[in-house]
Amino acid sequence: MRHIKYLDFDWFYCPEFREAFLAESDCSDAELWQSVQLPHTNAELPGSYFDDRACRFVSAYRRNLWLPPGQDAQRVALLRFEGVMNYAEIYLNGIQIGCHKGGYTPFEVVLPDSAAHWGEDNRLLVRVDSGERSDTPPFGFVIDYLTYGGIYREVSLHICEALHFGVVKLSPAISEPQNIRGKDSLVSGWLRLEPEIANPFLLKGQQQLDLRILGPGVEFSQSYLIELQGGRDGGGPTETCILDSLELDGLRLWDIGQGNLYEVELRLGEMDRYSAKIGWRDCHFGPEGFRINGRNQKLIGLNRHQSYPYAGYAMPANAQQKDADLFPEYGCNILRTSHYPQHRQFIEYCDEIGLLVFTEIPGWQHIGESAEWQEQVLCDVRDMILRDYNSPSVVLWGVRINESPDHSDLYRKTNELARWLDPTRQTGGVRCHNNSELLEDVYTMNNFVLNGRIDEGGGKGRIALNSQQEITGLDHAVPYLVTESNGHMFPTKAWDTEERRTEHAVRHLRVIDAAHIARQHSGSISWCAFDYNTHHEFGAGDKICHHGVFDMYREPKFAAWAYRSQKDPAAAVVLEPLSCWARGERDECRMGPLWVLHNCDYIELYINGKLQNNGSQGHKIYPDRGLFRGLPHPPSIIRQIDSLWGEAFGGAEIKGYIGGTEVVARRLAGNPSADRLLLRADQTWLRAARPEATRICLRVTDQFGNSLPFLMAGVHLRLTGPKVQAYADEVSPLSDGSGGWELFSTLRGGSSAIWLLSAGEAGTAELEARVIGYPKLTARLQIQINLESVGA
Ligand code: GAL
Repeated sequence: MRHIKYLDFDWFYCPEFREAFLAESDCSDAELWQSVQLPHTNAELPGSYFDDRACRFVSAYRRNLWLPPGQDAQRVALLRFEGVMNYAEIYLNGIQIGCHKGGYTPFEVVLPDSAAHWGEDNRLLVRVDSGERSDTPPFGFVIDYLTYGGIYREVSLHICEALHFGVVKLSPAISEPQNIRGKDSLVSGWLRLEPEIANPFLLKGQQQLDLRILGPGVEFSQSYLIELQGGRDGGGPTETCILDSLELDGLRLWDIGQGNLYEVELRLGEMDRYSAKIGWRDCHFGPEGFRINGRNQKLIGLNRHQSYPYAGYAMPANAQQKDADLFPEYGCNILRTSHYPQHRQFIEYCDEIGLLVFTEIPGWQHIGESAEWQEQVLCDVRDMILRDYNSPSVVLWGVRINESPDHSDLYRKTNELARWLDPTRQTGGVRCHNNSELLEDVYTMNNFVLNGRIDEGGGKGRIALNSQQEITGLDHAVPYLVTESNGHMFPTKAWDTEERRTEHAVRHLRVIDAAHIARQHSGSISWCAFDYNTHHEFGAGDKICHHGVFDMYREPKFAAWAYRSQKDPAAAVVLEPLSCWARGERDECRMGPLWVLHNCDYIELYINGKLQNNGSQGHKIYPDRGLFRGLPHPPSIIRQIDSLWGEAFGGAEIKGYIGGTEVVARRLAGNPSADRLLLRADQTWLRAARPEATRICLRVTDQFGNSLPFLMAGVHLRLTGPKVQAYADEVSPLSDGSGGWELFSTLRGGSSAIWLLSAGEAGTAELEARVIGYPKLTARLQIQINLESVGA
């Protein structure tokens, strides 16, 4: 049976590469070699204002690799790398055994007998070139994001028997999709299986293959006899058998928010086991929009970069999965993995929670001229599709370099390849120019037309999204999806003025509204979920694009509520006033218009305990359906709030009503003060056996729990307990010699976050925090780190 060992720990890292490393195994020079764990970033960065070239260098990773005895046995050892930025050369005992170009796709390297020492320790060395090599996408010109560096995803050693699985394609299909009656209905479906079997020793004869399918309402098993070709008729060491096509009844549909998954297990006798989770769903982009499981579904979502402050891309998968959770929590049903394939376990998690994914090949605007560069684009298409083929969340393959110009030759090839590898899914290709050549199945467009306020003179800001005919130039409707809007058109910091943050939210509302109104738009994925570090050609000079509806620390800005307020109140009642309720924040001490984002029937505003009238509307302030015809839940807008400089000033309360009953109330302090420090972990337990991480959010609120957007303060943290790794503005050993850590973080706009990673040791990590200058603001938190995985 295949034996898998995860090589997370016991690595040594050197921020340079020397030829001499090939011959040495000594890592004891602490000046040169640092003990590290994976995922690892080649250079930890400050949150902002760093040199954007800081990660571009060649480094070395090495570790000891013990291989079991077995040179006489028919077995194969291979290393699997999930992602190394950007070019990797792998050496075993000083002999190069493989290399890989491209930082976003996985690769495997077989350990050949000529280099491997079976039953002994082996010297594994990886030369990692994190330079922006112009022979590889996305490089060759400027890029609006950082690509970081290092072995930033996991590595595993696989000891495989003579026969083992390669890529396994599982294609579920619903028998009569036209008869689906609602997302909870049970259906009959088919499954086509295409397992690739590696047969490096060219075995011939019959081999049993066992299949088991397990999931809601289904327990199925079947055995097959397959005939190994063993290189007959010029065949190679890899054989693909097609097990066509199995019918199953009583299947639960996979749908948005409904991750009904079925585990498919394949066994090659005692030689190898493969398993993957699949889902049955029927979906299609058509000229009239997107349909899933027999219904029209407007797609509303955000783009996601996989980067984090300090750690760059090197964040364990479990913490990345928390990003996915924010999407449904904030009313989104689709995510675009801009602009590259993201962590495999991130996509698998989207499968689990029923979040749709549009994933795409690496690239940004530029198409390299060389044949080598363009060849790499095709490799990326192949590797992206083969890795994520079985994921029901993936509904569209992006086979164009994001926002690149038309290129018939290249994009004919990427589309052909994608359709050949995966006839079950449609292709998209993100462009930003009109009248582009449509070679893909779906015209996916970054539509940055919204360039002003709703009431701005001269027609500016009038249009939130163009009609698809204006964009495509075609005289007929085609499948169409907006893949970006807003972003650089209106960058907004978490601590910007209230008016700017409000306008940011309003622009997102307007795009969502326009997407709902345009019947032929499948929907809109806006720019973007999280602020991100970027190159100096972009961003606010601080190496941050403040384009997120969340900041880099995953704290929501007002704009995040534009999405969340569209949720069905049965799932979550939302009421968010876009105000810090202060008289002196806006020009001329204006306090209106006050936008309240909510999903109630109407709201009421009380000032100093007194119920207010909203102009002629009376005291029930209804959603503005005149301004927002398409939104499921338009905001209420209180145009005028009487407020005079020099008058007494008090607090307010906003209440939301559904069906005549008060369902939510928010109090706004007239005299807010920094009242509480919240120290909240996304996950209060971590596994020790594999590196896992949790974000710990630091937020100061006022006496009513509201955030304080203009609070900039330092937080001092003390961390004790088992060995962990931490990311914060600064991390240093505690001076008392206890082995603990002292951390600093800076509240930006009233909040911040740090990350803690397990490092192989179990125990209780204790964290104590205090806000500098505010003696009352202290908090404590414990994180349990367990040897086994114990859910909270
Ligand atoms: C787009 C691009 C994104 C990001 C965005 C900012 O042109 O595709 O990667 O740069 O602009 O709004």
